[in-house]
Amino acid sequence: MATYAEVYEAWKSDPEGFWMEQAQVIDWVEPPSRALFDKNAPLYEWFVDAKVNTCWNAVDRHVKAGRGDQAALIYDSPVTDTKATITYSDLQDRVARLAGALQAQGVGVGDRVIIYMPMIPEAVVAMLAATRIGAIHSVVFGGFAAHELAVRIDDATPKCIIAGSCGIEPGRVVHYKPLLDGAIEQARHKPEFCVILQRPQGMADLTEGRDHDWADFAADAPHADCVPVPGDHPAYVLYTSGTTGQPKGVVRPTAGHLVALQWTMKNIFNVDPGEVFWAASDVGWVVGHSYICYAPLIAGNTSVLFEGKPVGTPDAGTFWRVISEHNVRSFFTAPTAFRAIKREDPKGEFLKPYDISCLRALYLAGERADPDTITWAQDLMGVPVIDHWWQTETGWPIVANPMGIEALPVKIGSPSVPMPGWDVQILDEAGHEVAPGTLGAIAVKLPLPPGTLPTLWNAEDRFRKAYLDHFPGYYETGDAGMKDEDGYLWIMARTDDVINVAGHRLSTGAMEEVLANHPDVAECAVIGVADELKGQLPMGFVCLTKGVNRPHEEIAKECVAMVRDQIGPVAAFKLAVVIDRLPKTRSGKILRKTMVQICDGAEFKVPATIDDPAILDEVRAAVGTLGYPKGA
Ligand code: COA
Ligand code: AMP
Repeated sequence: MATYAEVYEAWKSDPEGFWMEQAQVIDWVEPPSRALFDKNAPLYEWFVDAKVNTCWNAVDRHVKAGRGDQAALIYDSPVTDTKATITYSDLQDRVARLAGALQAQGVGVGDRVIIYMPMIPEAVVAMLAATRIGAIHSVVFGGFAAHELAVRIDDATPKCIIAGSCGIEPGRVVHYKPLLDGAIEQARHKPEFCVILQRPQGMADLTEGRDHDWADFAADAPHADCVPVPGDHPAYVLYTSGTTGQPKGVVRPTAGHLVALQWTMKNIFNVDPGEVFWAASDVGWVVGHSYICYAPLIAGNTSVLFEGKPVGTPDAGTFWRVISEHNVRSFFTAPTAFRAIKREDPKGEFLKPYDISCLRALYLAGERADPDTITWAQDLMGVPVIDHWWQTETGWPIVANPMGIEALPVKIGSPSVPMPGWDVQILDEAGHEVAPGTLGAIAVKLPLPPGTLPTLWNAEDRFRKAYLDHFPGYYETGDAGMKDEDGYLWIMARTDDVINVAGHRLSTGAMEEVLANHPDVAECAVIGVADELKGQLPMGFVCLTKGVNRPHEEIAKECVAMVRDQIGPVAAFKLAVVIDRLPKTRSGKILRKTMVQICDGAEFKVPATIDDPAILDEVRAAVGTLGYPKGA
């Protein structure tokens, strides 16, 4: 068996040869003649001249190979008290019928389909049905409100929207249909039709002439065949937060996505075909796209689709039950989930009734994994805890511990080492690589490997500006960190205004845009403050228009309600405070970092460029009313 060092070197010495070899495990309608297409450098594409279909590789080929009776999906939903197993044959039937029904309504290659659904098998069926016919899906997370959905409708201009009638959060049913109707009303673009999956927990009223009931829509539809598309055809667009309220539409190219994801299942996640893999996330995030839907299915695994929470559905033992009951080999979630379990059950009492010896490793990503949580999980579960670092843009891990190749020594707090395809460098402001142990911007030497974003949907200029212009020849990740003497990466912080709340990536800029629309608000700033459970929480500061003398608490409450209403509950925006002035530099830049340091109770130097240091006392007093710094 090759070592990690050998595999990485094999890639480095012949990147194209490496990826052509990996491409052999994919079923091509027409195989690629070569790997990299660089005529538009620094924009790169992979396997462009191939013809291939994602759904065929994720579903049909396994049925053809005799795995039809194997479980493709295990749906486990403590919130509805439902469990169901869907074999590859069942999945093929459901996907092909929905795809046929979509085709009959005129959905074809290149048409966009927005999917707004909770964690139910139909969400995966809808994704696969779109890729089956060459349509481009865009899944919108259920915790986003109507306005966020409207923004995505206007950017993706979908022919059709597929939605669930409701999602289920602990203690409440989230009715999606009014949100969907509101979004369509707000959006300039109107979809031709919608398909609504009626759930008994919250049935929706359908809009005559526009909405189809999924059950009737797909019932007798003819099976659609898989439609071959070119290698660079977008399999999907997934919106993610940037610095402004306009989310970035990350484009996922079909062929590279297939090749890269298949590679990761064995080499990083260490599962063989037929074994059970579980990513406890949501199909609305990239983790859900890559590791609930596509990668496990492409690799012929069984993927667990879990509709519930780590705690409260019904208790802190849910994860252990699912692992033992479904024989999960590799388990992936966000550190927040483990912090939630640890908070509720620090001694691990809820694990006692379950045998989780089937599990080989726990994988954590999506946010910084704090050493306390890692050590706690490792001691309790008795398996290695593997931190790995990646982004919506990349679609698969940049830095990880390649457990299927070789279990490298774990350094707690580091996601370990770059995977093949990734030449990760730490750069100073001038774009020069810095010495080991020195903090800098984390950048990746171009080209990025297969499966990563070739551009942003309808926004090539923004793609160049956001990722390529700052360090020519590199992709700028937006994270800062360092590399140690052994080549291990240490991820420290974002270099932009993106914050990470419970493993969810959110834009403070988007929240500021909402607050700025409050009629009494003249100026505002939103920052991310440290939170023991969720990693970070957003906190908003608003300065009022002259002459407004309504109670400040009332205005703060309205601000909280506006963010919930316009961005969604997932923003977890509950901390807002009115302040006279914001601390700024003499040139007018808001001193966000200093504000964060005050809220976190961190030591800091008053910036030399500050306009009026006295404002910092006002900030201290204001955040004090919210109970920050914690424990002060
Ligand atoms: N649809 C509608 N609302 C949703 C939602 C969805 N799909 N997902 C979350 N929300 C709501 C929640 O109900 C909550 O509403 P509330 O303000 O009324 O309580 C709000 O959005 C914030 O959600 P969240 O930040 O997830 O907090 P929580 O208190 O509900 O749960 C955890 C805390 C730790 C249990 C939860 O965040 C969790 O399981 N995290 C795991 C992280 C994860 O899966 N990340 C995905 C990337 S890998
Ligand atoms: P998303 O695009 O939502 O997956 O968020 C990606 C961002 O989450 C990264 O740019 C990091 O800031 C953060 N992130 C993801 N994984 C890790 C990790 N293992 N350690 C630290 N930060 C992480």
